[in-house]
Amino acid sequence: MNAKPVSHSRTTLTELMIPSYANFGGRVHGGILLSLMDKVAYACSAKHAGQYCVTVSVDGVNFRQPVDVGELVSFMASVNYVGRTSLVVGIKVIAENVKTGSVKHTNTSYFTMVAKDDADQPTEVPPLLLETPDDVRRFLEAMKRKELRASYGEHFDNAKTRMLLTENIDKLEKERCELTASLNRDFLQDLKD
Ligand SMILES: CC(C)(COP(=O)(O)OP(=O)(O)OC[C@H]1O[C@@H](n2cnc3c(N)ncnc32)[C@H](O)[C@@H]1OP(=O)(O)O)[C@@H](O)C(=O)NCCC(=O)NCCS
Repeated sequence: MNAKPVSHSRTTLTELMIPSYANFGGRVHGGILLSLMDKVAYACSAKHAGQYCVTVSVDGVNFRQPVDVGELVSFMASVNYVGRTSLVVGIKVIAENVKTGSVKHTNTSYFTMVAKDDADQPTEVPPLLLETPDDVRRFLEAMKRKELRASYGEHFDNAKTRMLLTENIDKLEKERCELTASLNRDFLQDLKD
């Protein structure tokens, strides 16, 4: 399979934030932005893979600044990394106020996509041809995130499935939560006994 350059599939989607995208506070819903990010991730990954692709996971969604109705938002996507059947698409999101010309970087997120064949099975994608130092840096950074995610995933799964109330209940004391009287009386007292 011939390698395809990052530039082959680089994709930018620009969309005007219309009033129907707003939440009750008058700002754009985070879910609207996520949906548009998913769309551009699909376009970029499908172009590289030459196949239908599905979204498997999303990393790094932290909206650092709100997006307002009337702003032009650009979603700049490129393939950062490819595995055997998966690709990581990095998406930089910027919002522009056309009147003032001010531009804000709202977030950069990473979508892992998997290419599927006609039988709905994961299928091999072309290698990535790295043409610039930025291409190389992004590929290496994606490798590092993959490594970190693997170790984080293991800790996360353990935390979800092996949390013992008796060993951890005291941690709630400094948190902003309260236990109902009946929970305290009937359940937690049993734990302490
Ligand atoms: C993703 C999916 C194809 C994995 O299927 P699978 O039988 O486990 O296949 P594999 O184990 O061979 O994994 C395929 C690739 O996905 C990657 N992958 C699987 N789960 C992953 C995860 N949670 N995060 C990142 N990558 C993941 C694997 O590393 C592998 O990559 P590689 O081939 O580049 O090494 C399958 O779980 C699926 O179809 N999920 C639904 C996706 C979907 O429909 N999304 C739309 C949301 S409605």
